[in-house]
Amino acid sequence: MQTFPAVLLLLSLLLLLLPPPSAAHNITRILAKHPEFSTFNHYLTLTHLAAEINRRETITVCAVDNAAMSDLISKQLPLFTIHNVLSLHVFADYFGSKKLHQITKGSTLTATLFQATGKADGTSGYVNITDLKGGKVEFGAEENDGQPRATYVKSIDEMPYNISVIQISRILTSSEAEAPTPGPTLNVTSLMSKQGCKSFAALIISSGAEDTFTENLDGGLTVFCPSDAVLAAFMPKYKNLTAAGKQSLVLYHGVPVYQSMQTLKSSNGLMNTLATDGASKFDFTVQDDGEDVTLKTKVTTATITGIVVDQEPLIVYKIDKVLLPAELFKPAAAPVAKGKKGEEGAEAPGPDASDADAADQTASDNGSGKLYGSGLVSAVLGLWLVGSGLL
Ligand SMILES: *[C@@H]1O[C@H](CO)[C@@H](O)[C@H](O)[C@H]1NC(C)=O
Ligand SMILES: *[C@@H]1O[C@H](CO)[C@@H](O)[C@H](O)[C@H]1NC(C)=O
Ligand SMILES: *[C@@H]1O[C@H](CO)[C@@H](O)[C@H](O)[C@H]1NC(C)=O
Ligand SMILES: *[C@@H]1O[C@H](CO)[C@@H](O)[C@H](O)[C@H]1NC(C)=O
Ligand SMILES: *[C@@H]1O[C@H](CO)[C@@H](O)[C@H](O)[C@H]1NC(C)=O
Ligand SMILES: *[C@@H]1O[C@H](CO)[C@@H](O)[C@H](O)[C@H]1NC(C)=O
Repeated sequence: MQTFPAVLLLLSLLLLLLPPPSAAHNITRILAKHPEFSTFNHYLTLTHLAAEINRRETITVCAVDNAAMSDLISKQLPLFTIHNVLSLHVFADYFGSKKLHQITKGSTLTATLFQATGKADGTSGYVNITDLKGGKVEFGAEENDGQPRATYVKSIDEMPYNISVIQISRILTSSEAEAPTPGPTLNVTSLMSKQGCKSFAALIISSGAEDTFTENLDGGLTVFCPSDAVLAAFMPKYKNLTAAGKQSLVLYHGVPVYQSMQTLKSSNGLMNTLATDGASKFDFTVQDDGEDVTLKTKVTTATITGIVVDQEPLIVYKIDKVLLPAELFKPAAAPVAKGKKGEEGAEAPGPDASDADAADQTASDNGSGKLYGSGLVSAVLGLWLVGSGLL
C-alpha cells in the first residue's frame, strides 16, 4: 500500500499528458458556466441532444432560462416528445448575434434538428427568424399555430462558425413537435435474432433484461453483442452467476445512447451502461486503436467486429469477447496466473477471465482487492477527466 500514492501520481501525470477526449465544442460545458440554464442543459443531456450537438459543426443552440423551461416541464410530456420540442431549438446553421441582426429581406427560414430527424412533415421542422425594427429579433416555429413567438435575449457563447449559443425568451413549439408519438416499434431482441445474435438475444429475454433494453430505445440504444460462438464458450461461467449477476452482465452490454461507429471512434473514454448504478460502476472504456474500436473493462478487452443492426435509435455491434465487468469477475491482478492459460479456445472471453470463478466473484464483491483495482483506475480517470475539463 505504500507505493500506492506514487503509482497514482505517476499514472495521473501520464494521463494528463494525453489529449482531452474531445477537442471540439461541448454544449454541456458551455451551459454549465451559466446556472440560469441548468434545466435546459439537464434536458439536453437526458434527451441525448447534447451528444448530437457536440457531433455537429456549424450549429446554433437557442437556450431558454430555468423560468422559461417550466412552461415545457409543466406539460409533463414524455421524454421522447421533449426531445422533439428541444430539437426545434437547434439550428443546422450558424447564427451569431451579428448575423441575426443582418438578415436579408428581414426574415429567413432555417432548418432545425427536428427537421433532420425526418419526423417533421412539410415545413414544421423549420424556424422563422424575423429581424424586426429597433434591433428586435423574433423566432417562431414555421407552423406554430399562432402561439406567441420568442425573442432574442442575448448571446451566451460564440465560436464562429462552429457553434453559437444564444438565449431566447421562451420555448419554441409546434403541434407537430408536441404530437404524441407511438411507442417503440422496434423489437430489439427479434431484430438481433435475425442478424446472427440469436444467443445473446435469448439471454436478454431469459435474464429478464428485455424491458430495460426496450425502455431505453426511445432515447437511443447501443448494444454490444458477443457472437453466438463466443457466447457458447462462455455459457459455463454464465451459468455460475446468480440471477442478479446474470442480469447485470447482460445489461452491461447495453449503452443508453445511440453511438454510431464514427461517434465511438471519436468518443474515447468511459462509457456508462444499462447496468451502471452509481459512479464508476459497471462502466468500460472505449478506445479507438487505429482501424479497430476496442472496449476495455478492467478484466477483458473486446474488439468490435461488425454492425448487426443500424436502425436509429438502435445500433447493435458484434464483438469478439464477452464484456466482463470487474464487479462480477476478478480483474487481472498480476501476470502470475495459475497456469490455466491456453486451456480455452480463441473464442473464450480473454485469458484473464479464466480464473473468474464463483469464489472470485464473492471475493471481488466484498474484498479490498476491488477497491485497489477499480478504485485506483477510476480515481486516475476521474483526475484525467477533471484535467481535460480545465484545459
Ligand atoms: C462535456 O462536458 C461535460 C461536463 O464538463 C462532461 O461531463 C462530458 O463528458 C463532456 N463531453 C464530452 C464529449 O467531452
Ligand atoms: C416569417 O414570419 C413573418 C411573420 O409572420 C412573415 O411575414 C414572413 O414572411 C416569414 N418569413 C418566411 C421566410 O417565411
Ligand atoms: C472550430 O472547429 C474547428 C475544427 O473542429 C477547430 O479547428 C476550430 O478551432 C474551431 N473554432 C473555434 C472558434 O473554436
Ligand atoms: C420481441 O420478440 C420476441 C420474439 O419474437 C418476443 O418473445 C418478445 O416478447 C418481443 N418483445 C417485445 C417487447 O415485444
Ligand atoms: C463454477 O463454480 C464452481 C463452484 O464454485 C467451480 O468449481 C467451477 O469451476 C465454476 N465453473 C466455471 C466455468 O467457472
Ligand atoms: C460479503 O460477504 C458476506 C459473507 O462472506 C456476505 O454475507 C455479504 O452479503 C457480502 N457482501 C456483499 C456486499 O457482497
